[in-house]
Amino acid sequence: MPVISFANSKGGSGKTTSALLLACELANAKPVTLIDADPRQPISRWATMGNVPSGLTVVSNVTEKNILEEIEQASSTTPFVIIDLEGTASRLMSYAVSWSDLVIIPTKEQQQDAIAAIDVIKEVHRDMKATRRQIPYSVLFTQSRVIAKSRTARLISEQFRKNPQIDTFQTEIYERDAFSALFAIGGTIRSMTSKDVNNLDAALQNVEAFTAEVVAKLRTNREKVKEVA
Ligand SMILES: Nc1ncnc2c1ncn2[C@@H]1O[C@H](COP(=O)(O)OP(=O)(O)OP(=O)(O)O)[C@@H](O)[C@H]1O
Ligand SMILES: [Mg+2]
Repeated sequence: MPVISFANSKGGSGKTTSALLLACELANAKPVTLIDADPRQPISRWATMGNVPSGLTVVSNVTEKNILEEIEQASSTTPFVIIDLEGTASRLMSYAVSWSDLVIIPTKEQQQDAIAAIDVIKEVHRDMKATRRQIPYSVLFTQSRVIAKSRTARLISEQFRKNPQIDTFQTEIYERDAFSALFAIGGTIRSMTSKDVNNLDAALQNVEAFTAEVVAKLRTNREKVKEVA
């Protein structure tokens, strides 16, 4: 426990990158299982490149047939379970969402991504109805530009942030050399050096802020559940 899934049916919205950043950062403190539920197996491929944190276990070849057992097993053995989902809506996605304590919806500040994020939110609401329980979710802006954001980008993020019905991360995952390098050189941003990538310190700060916000959200959600009980 807890289970955190990354879902957006729009390809390339930043699910795998954000899931990996969170998993590696949390694994510095507590054991983490990262379930690779994408048939293209991007996390499993990353793991073969080495420098995987000792606290991180990657589970590969997860399909709609075995995901529920894998989540159950992982959540009984590690304090955090993170699920990277493929970029299409599927039964696999619903199964993962149904088990999640937090669904993170990574989204670029672009119209097509925003529309897909709304579709995922609708799906989460259907899963809530089906399971008759609250499933907290939050939109995470990814690959945002550090400087000179476009008007469209600002407009899209403002629309989400101003909507009281939709929880949105304050932290954005910026477009960074260190984040795209993860899949090229393997390891984590903590195993990289400033010779490998630019602005490593800023990337580290970004990941720390994101991880702290995830942990704070999990805590707040748990307290809300306690109040209801
Ligand atoms: N914050 C970032 N900074 C720089 N590059 C990024 C960032 N996030 C993602 N990318 C790059 O964008 C591409 C898509 O990212 P990623 O694979 O994380 O998206 P995804 O939502 O998992 O895609 P898919 O739906 O295909 O699984 C990758 O090449 C990745 O390296
Ligand atoms: Mg992916």
